[in-house]
Amino acid sequence: MKLSLLSLAFGAACVAATVPLSSVKKATTAPNNVVEGEYIVEMKDVQGLGGKRAFASMHDTLYRSLRKRDIAFDVKKEYNQPGIMVGATLKLSDVTQIASIAGVEAIRPVIAVPMPKRINQFSVSSPKDSRITADSETTHVMTGVDKAHAAGVTGEGIKIGIIDTGIDYNHPLLGSGIGAGFKVIGGYDFVGDAYTGSNTPVPDDDPLDTCNGHGTHVAGIIGANPGNDFGISGVAYGASIASYRLFGCSGFVSDDIIVEALLRGYNDGMDILTLSLGGVEGWTESSSAVVASRIAGQGRVVTIAAGNDGAYGSWYASSPGTGVDVISVGSVNNIAIPVQNATVQGVEHDPIPYLEALPLNISSPRPIYATSTDTTVADDACNPLPDDTPDLSGYIVVIRRGTCTFTTKLDNAAAKGANAFLIYNNGGSFSAISVGDYTATLISESDGAFLVNAFAAKENITVSFPQSGAAWTLPDDTVGGLMSDFSTYGPTYDMYFKPAVSGPGGNILSTLPVALGSYGVESGTSMATPFVAGSAALVLQSKGKDAAKSLRTLFQTTASNVASSKTDGEPLQTVSQQGAGLIQVDRALSTKTVVSPGQFTLNDTEHFEGFKTFTIKNTGSKAVTYKLSHVPAGTATSIQPGSIFASDGPVPLTTDYAQVTFGLTKITVLPGAIVPVPVWFKAPQGVDASTYPVYGGFIQVEAPGETLKVTYLGVAASLKDKAVVDTTDEYFGVPIPALLDASGDVAGNDTNYTMQGDDVPALLYRFAFGSAHVRLDLVPKDSSVSPTLSKRDWWNWWWPQKPSNSYDKVPIVGTLAEYDYVPRNSDASTSDDNGYNTYAFTGSFANGTKIAVGEYKVLMRALKVAGNPANEADYETWLSPAFGVTVA
Ligand SMILES: *[C@@H]1O[C@H](CO)[C@@H](O)[C@H](O)[C@H]1NC(C)=O
Ligand SMILES: *[C@@H]1O[C@H](CO)[C@@H](O)[C@H](O)[C@H]1NC(C)=O
Ligand SMILES: *[C@@H]1O[C@H](CO)[C@@H](O)[C@H](O)[C@H]1NC(C)=O
Ligand SMILES: *[C@@H]1O[C@H](CO)[C@@H](O)[C@H](O)[C@H]1NC(C)=O
Ligand SMILES: *[C@@H]1O[C@H](CO)[C@@H](O)[C@H](O)[C@H]1NC(C)=O
Ligand SMILES: *[C@@H]1O[C@H](CO)[C@@H](O)[C@H](O)[C@H]1NC(C)=O
Ligand SMILES: *[C@@H]1O[C@H](CO)[C@@H](O)[C@H](O)[C@H]1NC(C)=O
Repeated sequence: MKLSLLSLAFGAACVAATVPLSSVKKATTAPNNVVEGEYIVEMKDVQGLGGKRAFASMHDTLYRSLRKRDIAFDVKKEYNQPGIMVGATLKLSDVTQIASIAGVEAIRPVIAVPMPKRINQFSVSSPKDSRITADSETTHVMTGVDKAHAAGVTGEGIKIGIIDTGIDYNHPLLGSGIGAGFKVIGGYDFVGDAYTGSNTPVPDDDPLDTCNGHGTHVAGIIGANPGNDFGISGVAYGASIASYRLFGCSGFVSDDIIVEALLRGYNDGMDILTLSLGGVEGWTESSSAVVASRIAGQGRVVTIAAGNDGAYGSWYASSPGTGVDVISVGSVNNIAIPVQNATVQGVEHDPIPYLEALPLNISSPRPIYATSTDTTVADDACNPLPDDTPDLSGYIVVIRRGTCTFTTKLDNAAAKGANAFLIYNNGGSFSAISVGDYTATLISESDGAFLVNAFAAKENITVSFPQSGAAWTLPDDTVGGLMSDFSTYGPTYDMYFKPAVSGPGGNILSTLPVALGSYGVESGTSMATPFVAGSAALVLQSKGKDAAKSLRTLFQTTASNVASSKTDGEPLQTVSQQGAGLIQVDRALSTKTVVSPGQFTLNDTEHFEGFKTFTIKNTGSKAVTYKLSHVPAGTATSIQPGSIFASDGPVPLTTDYAQVTFGLTKITVLPGAIVPVPVWFKAPQGVDASTYPVYGGFIQVEAPGETLKVTYLGVAASLKDKAVVDTTDEYFGVPIPALLDASGDVAGNDTNYTMQGDDVPALLYRFAFGSAHVRLDLVPKDSSVSPTLSKRDWWNWWWPQKPSNSYDKVPIVGTLAEYDYVPRNSDASTSDDNGYNTYAFTGSFANGTKIAVGEYKVLMRALKVAGNPANEADYETWLSPAFGVTVA
């Protein structure tokens, strides 16, 4: 799992035809991004044994047991929060013996959390800047936040903890200070500016962020003071904010620090904790997901970004948003986009809107230069420009979006002197793009085509960028109000409902640190998440803090359905991307009907839960008659037909709907009464189970003046049948898994290695679906495993549940690596983007013992989803060609 901040903008996902083997790095990239040798060991939480002292002695018991077993360890951190987390982060020489220590509840690896590059850094501005125009606060209108504000509800008295990159609390809209009496009441810096993830954190009390900006953008969405020339205001600008900083200016954070920040926010009495970060995991089990969920279970609101991996399709849920009881948040596009206009001289043409909150800093009109005169070119400027390209320093260079990253295109043009760029769209969504430090921006496809054609016709035109008076908001009729393409699709592999709800997260104007320009437009589930956190504060202020426990249900049951397109007759967007839909704060505040629960998980066909009950409570003073109906949403073809791989996003939808039956379709509920309603579901019939159709929809509960709903989700196939290991040649052009030899080619039979320096083999493998347990072992050379295994070996089912030390009677020589709760891979072309995994041999087993001279094969085992860890038949296996170790 890789976690990251969830604000970004990206171009079309780059899906390589085949990835060359030569690009594979000779280093282990674990499928779940673990920090080598570090574990969060959770102790059994023995309630009622005399409070904290008893727990402190639990730690001592653990350390004594480790010493007794001669296991070297360092204590990195201790956790002592009964009911949520009692345990420690340890650096360990050997993890294998820990499971048998009395009192150990769970062992989870520490996970590294990288931070992506910053986008949208504007140079300088103030709220009085004439270059920008008032935001029309369309995001507040879309969600009924404007109505709550009009009623005087602004989140007063509610405390929101933001776990992020810190906050520039010196920003005038964020209160110009920190401490009692300020908007930002306090917080903590767990890491310090210089923290990179691999050096020692230097914590202090000051969570000021002047070098990153992500947390400041998040804070503005929650708390920006109204009454500014930008026209922006936070969703809960009356609330108090605490800032928990866990990223330095660049680099990584490890998830033991996320756990620490969650616990600190909990102990500081935050009513709401919000995290705009995460990375693909697909399971509900990482330490930070588990701790976040337990805090939510204690009656606090925890909102966490769903992820920005929509391009990779279904089954790609982000952790810690996967935590069972947290509110994971998807992103809906703003219905209007803050833009600037450029103007054209020399021919008649309307001003050209470009996607920036502030004007590009280009002072005089410039002629244009197009890198291709073909307005349909797919890979414009992806390769170095031709030798006869003129010096481009005096031009605005026009490039078409597509195939490679924006910065590749810009690098290629900059190599010819270019310094100002317009990138025109190719059908992708009109949202902020990632251009590094270049003066570059996105314009529409039609404006781009106009410029390219004018260039091709050798028209004498120039483009200028007015430095004031050119700001406006472009109504977004194409994708405004729809799910953002980048918003991640669930569900989790264990069939939990992710995301829970959505908020506005595409094209959001908010605050940045003063040093980074004060204001900027960004996109991401990072922006949708604080919006929902702020909305939660409005509800808690209005209904009291006890409303926290049922807040997710309230938001889900009052949310609005999100369409999949602007075309009539298309199905609603799959609930595996929109969750229960776009939150509607005014409805949540005013509803007289309480429907519960907010979501039904029907699981897969093998574990189908087709009978469910929900309740309708009438809190009004008159009897109300409710009408029940079924509103289906699109069924996601989550796996490509005829393939083992996930469909890329936008995931294709069908109208293969579930059948839903009610005992009654009209129910009258007396004032104050609660009535249970049984519902029977039947999964979609006649569908192609090999496409793993993820279906869902809404049970609509309609009363005069208000409509509520319960959202359901299931998959019309058995997850245990789903192929896990990629055994095709589609990705690398050679069949995998594969053992690579010292030179990086696929190894032949009986290749020998000295295991010195680079003379080691490497295992290359990918997963088409998640696995709760993966193990790489060495077995003797003469081993063979039968492909059809049915043996059931219940006797070896020891805790924690792991495969036994032999497989199909093949003895295991030693274990190379074990990984729990592994996500599937993406189809990105690099391992950094989770395209594939490698295991580079070190000459030793996982426990540090050297591999002896001899001849071996690698046995890889991956547990199928919903498989029983103790049942050999529930694993997929692969056996490598034989190889020799000649020196030890
Ligand atoms: C705009 O660019 C000029 C020249 O490159 C530079 O001197 C100036 O500081 C820039 N202005 C802003 C607001 O960044
Ligand atoms: C920007 O350009 C659009 C048309 O391209 C026009 O409708 C709009 O009025 C312009 N706004 C400003 C502030 O120039
Ligand atoms: C192009 O237009 C500019 C003014 O817009 C003019 O000064 C210049 O002479 C023109 N050049 C040609 C080659 O027509
Ligand atoms: C779905 O079924 C599997 C297998 O029994 C179970 O582990 C999982 O928790 C279930 N999911 C939900 C959301 O109930
Ligand atoms: C290795 O040996 C196996 C079994 O003898 C054979 O099927 C396979 O083709 C051989 N592979 C190579 C690369 O020679
Ligand atoms: C590797 O060593 C073994 C045993 O010494 C030998 O039989 C085999 O031929 C060697 N393989 C190659 C490819 O040289
Ligand atoms: C490490 O693993 C190897 C292979 O399984 C085993 O032979 C050895 O005894 C183990 N070493 C320790 C210290 O447990």
